[in-house]
Amino acid sequence: MRRLIHRPRRLRRSPALRNLVRETQLSVHDFVLPLFVNEKLDEPRPIASMQGVSQLPLKQIADEACRAHDLGLQAVLLFGIPEHKDEQASGAYSENGIIQKALRAIKAKCPDLVAITDVCLCEYMSHGHCGVTRMDGDHFHVLNDESVELLVKTALSHAAAGADMVAPSDMMDGRIRAIREALDLGGFDQTGIISYAAKFASAFYGPFREAAESPPQFGDRRSYQMDFANANEALREVALDIDEGADILMVKPALPYLNILWRVRERFGKPTAVYHVSGEYAMVKSAAEKGLLDERAAIFEIMTALKRAGADIIITYWARDLAQWVPE
Ligand code: PBG
Repeated sequence: MRRLIHRPRRLRRSPALRNLVRETQLSVHDFVLPLFVNEKLDEPRPIASMQGVSQLPLKQIADEACRAHDLGLQAVLLFGIPEHKDEQASGAYSENGIIQKALRAIKAKCPDLVAITDVCLCEYMSHGHCGVTRMDGDHFHVLNDESVELLVKTALSHAAAGADMVAPSDMMDGRIRAIREALDLGGFDQTGIISYAAKFASAFYGPFREAAESPPQFGDRRSYQMDFANANEALREVALDIDEGADILMVKPALPYLNILWRVRERFGKPTAVYHVSGEYAMVKSAAEKGLLDERAAIFEIMTALKRAGADIIITYWARDLAQWVPE
């Protein structure tokens, strides 16, 4: 007898069918490339902990950024390593600081590329913390309001040098509102803010601290970055940053925090970015180097998962490679 029972069908049989029903497609427009510019260099310096990533000298930063634009990327995220560090992070907001000079060079060469700057003090502080610190016996405190003042100066000087968006990554309280107000008052109402809203204190930032020459000289960042055990707190932080004026929200790191990313995107419906960080990058790189996994397949799977979980923007050290691979 012929069977007439209806069976559910899975549309997986041919590549064409799979393409037709695929829910998530990567595009070159999804990715932002982080770049490190180091005031002390004349030649690129490879970062040992992040195979394939280098710090760049000022004279090459515009070429690199514009090459990314030529590949189809819409934005770069700039990190600076200053010649001198001090206890006031003065290199962060000096008119001739490394980021300010890099911005002017990039904007002169490819004005349409979106230049985003990381706004933080850790790379500019002699002690490597993200804010102004005070010792209290054996304990140190990060002084929130004093730090916010310096962050505001930093964001303003970036905007004046041509930044299209500033991305405060310090995690001080109230910094988004303070920066938004200062930008508006300074005539930079078109300069956007990407807030590192849900930034967790993470082991996965390890390689970055070599890349940015910013390891804390004492203590750790747990008093100002978030406890990775907390999801509801992350949502509250995000809600505050929206209220204070953030245009784009960021979740960081990426893969261990897909649930946070999903909830942020679902709940607030704002443009949401995720930062696939240095340790996540190094993990895949070193496994691939040992022949344990296929790098390209792993990257596609990771990036698709991030987008599927709600990311509108993915910050990744593979942005350049992805720009070349994704059209296929
Ligand atoms: C702070 C900052 C960090 C990263 C981006 N901005 C380091 C930290 O908070 O310790 C990490 C990025 C990465 O690991 O790729 N300025």
